[in-house]
Amino acid sequence: MSQTEKLYEGKAKILYTTDDPDILLTVYKDDATAFNAQKKGQITGKGAINCQITAALYELLESLDISTHYVDCPQPDRMRVKAVTIVPVEVVVRNIAAGSLCRQTGLPEGKVLDVPLVEYYYKSDELGDPLLTRDRIFLLDLVSDSRLAQIEKMARKINQHLQSFFDQCDIILVDFKLEFGIDSQQNLLLADEISPDTCRLWDKNETDPTAKVMDKDRFRKDLGRVESAYQQVQQRVLAQIKKN
Ligand code: C5P
Repeated sequence: MSQTEKLYEGKAKILYTTDDPDILLTVYKDDATAFNAQKKGQITGKGAINCQITAALYELLESLDISTHYVDCPQPDRMRVKAVTIVPVEVVVRNIAAGSLCRQTGLPEGKVLDVPLVEYYYKSDELGDPLLTRDRIFLLDLVSDSRLAQIEKMARKINQHLQSFFDQCDIILVDFKLEFGIDSQQNLLLADEISPDTCRLWDKNETDPTAKVMDKDRFRKDLGRVESAYQQVQQRVLAQIKKN
């Protein structure tokens, strides 16, 4: 299957059509951005690492009855995916307070949440991905009430599966962002990626607040050792998948 026309270039990935209209090719880039692309850089090897981590997690989730857009990886930094219409709502699931939740609410970083928090953000670079309320979602007609309920249920299930998987990797899943798509048969599929770019991951064996960070916060906050943190996540994820 050849890569044909470039459909879309995002901050971390490029999407191409293929000779099959139902399948697209995603090329994961080494480019790193933060703060709505105000900070830019490169993380060597990131494209292949994130692609391989996402593939492993999508295969795991598929085996647990979560439908994803994943098809296969023809090369380490390339993923074939089912063509979907992306729901313009980013879903953030939080197990522990960090990042914008702390900045916006004053909760201390590291506070374990009694019940995982599911939040919705408007997928709009122009507007800076603002936090949404349910009423705003319906006001903007971003997704129907029943679809939103289905998304929330699926996001909570994914969180349960990922939290226990990462725990086996000695990694704490602090929070993460999901995107969903709808295929031509109106099925809801998990889409986009799950990687250190889109999750906060803390090393269970580290107590030092800087040393424990294994995700994009190392790039956002200039903590150094970004590449090795991403490699470490990949090694642990792939080793644990082999064991399962
Ligand atoms: O910045 P904030 O604390 O709201 O991010 C919550 C989680 O969602 C983090 O794991 C972050 O990496 C992820 N996220 C993302 N893409 C965005 C916004 C947040 O992957 N556009």
